[in-house]
Amino acid sequence: MYNFLGSSVSELQLNHMNLTVFDRLIDLTMSFVGYCKKLFLSAMASIWDLIVIGALSVIYIGESIALTFTPTFLRSQKSLRNKIILLTGGAGGVGQELTLRLARLKAKVVVWDINEKALEKVQEKCAKEGYKIYTYAVDISDRQNVYKNADLVKSEVGHVDILINNAGIVCGNTFLDIPDHMIEKTYQVNILSHYWTTKAFLSDMLKNGRGHIVTMGSLTGLLGTYKCTDYSGTKHAAMGFHESLMAELKTHGHDNINMTIVCPYFINTGMFSGCKPRNFPMLEPKDVAKRLITAVRREEVYVTMPGWARFILPMKNFIPAKLAWALSYRLIKGPQSMMGLRPFQDSSSSTVEVAAA
Ligand SMILES: NC(=O)c1ccc[n+]([C@@H]2O[C@H](COP(=O)([O-])OP(=O)(O)OC[C@H]3O[C@@H](n4cnc5c(N)ncnc54)[C@H](O)[C@@H]3O)[C@@H](O)[C@H]2O)c1
Repeated sequence: MYNFLGSSVSELQLNHMNLTVFDRLIDLTMSFVGYCKKLFLSAMASIWDLIVIGALSVIYIGESIALTFTPTFLRSQKSLRNKIILLTGGAGGVGQELTLRLARLKAKVVVWDINEKALEKVQEKCAKEGYKIYTYAVDISDRQNVYKNADLVKSEVGHVDILINNAGIVCGNTFLDIPDHMIEKTYQVNILSHYWTTKAFLSDMLKNGRGHIVTMGSLTGLLGTYKCTDYSGTKHAAMGFHESLMAELKTHGHDNINMTIVCPYFINTGMFSGCKPRNFPMLEPKDVAKRLITAVRREEVYVTMPGWARFILPMKNFIPAKLAWALSYRLIKGPQSMMGLRPFQDSSSSTVEVAAA
């Protein structure tokens, strides 16, 4: 018998206690070793990831610089011959330029537009040059109308290879003066429709193992501006939709589905009539159409027009907010450019003429 901390314990009990303490020590040592091992392995994995990212950065940045300075005629571009290309708003400003130019590249062009007269006009223009296009009067803000016409296109023309979500509208007023129904309309046309059209055609693209989705964004999808609470909101949403879908497709290994988003500055189509850009003239619809087609043929991911805007606009995240506003107001004069924007114009009545090739 021993007296241990005031109580008497047998030799057997003492041996048992020693064993328990010893066991615990071993357990603790083992879990510490296990923890160190995990820490070491995760540190090694992080170092490996850094090495891979470093190597990929060199490769991808190098590739990007090389491609930027490679003359256009030396860069490979995929053929659009016989590709079924469906574009929304294809009878309007940029849309009709796209329609004609895609038809000239021997694509099977399917045009969806709400404006029946404009559809007839663009069909005639294509026919005059000897091209057949497929036109459908579709209101893309109506989900059922989109699904019904998607089925029609599949049975009458075939599976869509390239979808260009181009149609768009703008209310053109300051926030409190935009009627609620117009805000809803802008969202239905400019972004909700992208969900319906993409849902209608993406499954077939996945089955066929190839496809291309093009989103017509805007510089206002990167930087909000005056009289654009509805429009800019939808264009930011379009960017989020586009990037998230791209992330899902890539994560699931669908690398054969290409995604291109084009974000232009003002275009001279009538959509922003009344606006007076202070620093640079408006882009011409034919130039935007040409650039979009080149981007599709080169499978580019992200295009801003002008190109340097992709470096300038994100600066708002790095500089003080007050300076960002001063630059926007005093140098770029974005809000002042927008002040004359005509409110509630009917963007389905664009009168831009298709330019000669
Ligand atoms: N014009 C610009 O300054 C500018 C600048 C940046 C981005 N964008 C974007 O470029 C795209 C084309 O613009 P645009 O200047 O050629 O416009 P536009 O008004 O000239 O043409 C838009 C076309 O979309 C059609 N449309 C409108 N509502 C529709 C609906 N509910 N269903 C089907 N079709 C519908 C119209 O009938 C019209 O043919 C839009 O997405 C626009 O937001 C335009």
